[in-house]
Amino acid sequence: MSAAEDRERGRLGLPRLHLREVGSTNARLVALAEAGAPHGTLVTTGHQTAGRGRLGRTWVDPPGRALLMSVLVRGLPPVLPLRAAVAVAAAIGPQAQIKWPNDVLVGGRKVSGVLVEGRPQRGFAVVGVGVNVAVREEDLPDAPTPAGTLGGRPEDVEPLLAGVLRALEEQLDAPVGAVLAAWRARDALDGRPVAWTDGAGVARGVDEEGRLRVERADGTEVRLDAGEVRLAAPGAPPA
Ligand code: BTN
Repeated sequence: MSAAEDRERGRLGLPRLHLREVGSTNARLVALAEAGAPHGTLVTTGHQTAGRGRLGRTWVDPPGRALLMSVLVRGLPPVLPLRAAVAVAAAIGPQAQIKWPNDVLVGGRKVSGVLVEGRPQRGFAVVGVGVNVAVREEDLPDAPTPAGTLGGRPEDVEPLLAGVLRALEEQLDAPVGAVLAAWRARDALDGRPVAWTDGAGVARGVDEEGRLRVERADGTEVRLDAGEVRLAAPGAPPA
């Protein structure tokens, strides 16, 4: 059976490995995937000691208060990082917005980060999600995009996990056009000024490959690739 067929028939979340503590659920799941774990395999933990973020950043969590999960996707559907962000936002609720490419914000503060680690030659990707479910305000890290919390209870972590998995199943089966429409409906940057190392402009949504479209002051358009660009608030250093 092909990886795409695997995906179609596959529910996400089984088998599941839950660890009290681990360096990084993404790192553990990449190793399991290399060893042949099936589509849908889930790794969760109560605490990460070396949580990975995008662009080489770290992801920190106070034990027992965050959703920390990685799920294995065999076959690489287009715009997977955007699919993942839409799924997390949908599981959180209508108030959740997405800051390109896949930070999930509530009230302008980042409550969730997504790190997709793909191995295209091996035909798989690991989708890692962290959500500040029950993190207390005083435990939020300093971050370029101000961090936020859902303000829930530790017992809310498991139901949110179930919601993210079901929403991601839907997103994996959705046509690209529907994914992009759902992403655009939650776009936190649309029409806002953005800046990066080499330039600045106004965000104009994403193209069909998930690149951020930015209109420069002279009217020209540039498309930014998520793997290469750190956005910054105008006047601030790239984050
Ligand atoms: C980001 O915003 O930079 C992405 C953060 C992704 C964090 C999650 S937590 C679970 C999974 N395991 C990791 O090591 N990272 C992701």
